[in-house]
Amino acid sequence: MSLIKTSSTYISVISVWFLPWTVMAQPAAIAMPDIYSAQTAKQILMQGGNAVDAAVASAFVLAVTYPEAGNLGGGGFLTLFEPNKQSNNATHEPNQGKSYFLDYREKAPLAAFRDLYLDSNKAVVPYRSLVGYQASGVPGTVRGMWKVHQRFGHLPWKRLLSSAIQLAKQGFVVSEPLAQRAIWYQQWIIDKSPIPLNYTAYFADLKTNSIFKQPELAKTLTLIAEQGADAFYTGKIAQQIVKQMQKPESMADKGLITLADLKGYQAIWRQPVQGQWQGRTIVSAPPPSSGGIAIIQLLKMKSLLEESHKPSWLKAEANLPEQAFKAHVYAELEKRVYADRAFYLGDPDFIDVPIKQLISETYLTSRIKGVLLDNISDTESLKPGKLESPETTHFSIIDSQGMAVSNTYTLNMPFGSGVVIEGAGFLMNDEMDDFSTKPGVANVFGVVGGKANEIAPSKRMLSSMSPTIVLKGGQVEMVVGTPGGSTIITSVFQAIVNVVESGMSAQQAVDAPRVHHQLLPVNQIAYNPELSDATKAALELMGYHLKHNSYMGDVQLIANINGHWQAASDKRGQGVSEVFSLD
Ligand code: GLY
Repeated sequence: MSLIKTSSTYISVISVWFLPWTVMAQPAAIAMPDIYSAQTAKQILMQGGNAVDAAVASAFVLAVTYPEAGNLGGGGFLTLFEPNKQSNNATHEPNQGKSYFLDYREKAPLAAFRDLYLDSNKAVVPYRSLVGYQASGVPGTVRGMWKVHQRFGHLPWKRLLSSAIQLAKQGFVVSEPLAQRAIWYQQWIIDKSPIPLNYTAYFADLKTNSIFKQPELAKTLTLIAEQGADAFYTGKIAQQIVKQMQKPESMADKGLITLADLKGYQAIWRQPVQGQWQGRTIVSAPPPSSGGIAIIQLLKMKSLLEESHKPSWLKAEANLPEQAFKAHVYAELEKRVYADRAFYLGDPDFIDVPIKQLISETYLTSRIKGVLLDNISDTESLKPGKLESPETTHFSIIDSQGMAVSNTYTLNMPFGSGVVIEGAGFLMNDEMDDFSTKPGVANVFGVVGGKANEIAPSKRMLSSMSPTIVLKGGQVEMVVGTPGGSTIITSVFQAIVNVVESGMSAQQAVDAPRVHHQLLPVNQIAYNPELSDATKAALELMGYHLKHNSYMGDVQLIANINGHWQAASDKRGQGVSEVFSLD
């Protein structure tokens, strides 16, 4: 419960003079991907829960109401900012708080090996890393939620699962987009697996405006509420997962996950990757995500380029439609970043990732050398620099004490591997496709990988998920993130630039057209929504191939703009956002 009400000047003044150790209360804000998670997050905050409580409760709700990405059978990342409760006695200014990052990404099962998805001719077996029993990594979500709650949660664990249990038991109203995605997936997997999968038996009833109940999932959530994460990793649910993995008759189709895999799974606290940009600290996802490094590289390279090439920047800007110039500059920077991603990035528990160098000014200054402002620089010769899903879901929360959570988690493809754990009622992920199954061969998002991200037992697959917090003056300025596979990085980058440099409101920043270039296919810029004819013509004249992406993220952004909190959910999705006082 907050001690101070933002609306009361009187109490605020008292707090400054008599309660100098107390963090000034502020409005709370949420930006959530659906109405059910938004209602739950708000309710928890209104009941005195903190941002972590709201995040945990919402993550379990999304496992019910957003089955294409919300999950128990997947994994993700959570970036957290905890304000320092002690103010500086001399200045009465709050001290800087501390940032944390929780990695609850899936891990390759112990039985996995480098050539798991290759046939005897070393050719990739189509869809095996994406559909069916062998596509799943060891899930991390339940352990992750447990771990963050153990350290930072305030309300009792059991209470945080009650909304999810109720929604699974009593059902929720299916939205049209969810029903459409469910039909799409049902048709998509039909010819992708050599054996029948049970997805349809569980999710065929996702019909627009119908009430969808999930009694098995309600039982699973109740077990987790009563017994904690161990129910999932060593208890009854672990047994159910392993039993399901063994269902296919042929060894070639059986799943790899064992009781030892589940028992051994740990979520890990890591140092978030942090970079300075425009008087701010960008706090984001470190490896095994590529997101934080890539976003900091993009932001810093943009500033370095603008400063060091001022005359040619201004000339090229004047010669092109505004959106076309932006798209070209972003493309030039992005292809360099994706080249680095493919070469240097992977699980830091297995390889050394040169994080500091990759985001250093020296390296990035050398990296922008080949950028052309009025033409496309060569892609074929673009190598990693020399050093001296699409479906996922994201939410952003800040509580009245300034604690912020930026959380992105996923099954990878919508509805994951198409395998439901019978009796437990949840879908398994198909995250194994995020490994580089064969160097140089693109994954479902079209990004290529190399040795750093090859499969090994217990290794985490490289991700693009980028839950990000922007700090200014040691306090939270933005909480931001999005789904969208490899486009996550470029969407978060553009949302931050839109607020800081283009002076947009939070809503404008998330709704603005976005462009995306990921090195390959050569000279291809993807965009969403429509670009103007002039923009398209200018980019095509330069030699770009333009591709309209029907899906390009669902950004959830909270931002403090000129001292006022704003929360915005991308118009591309069905999110709900709100700023509210706890009065
Ligand atoms: N599965 C998408 C990602 O982790 O980036």
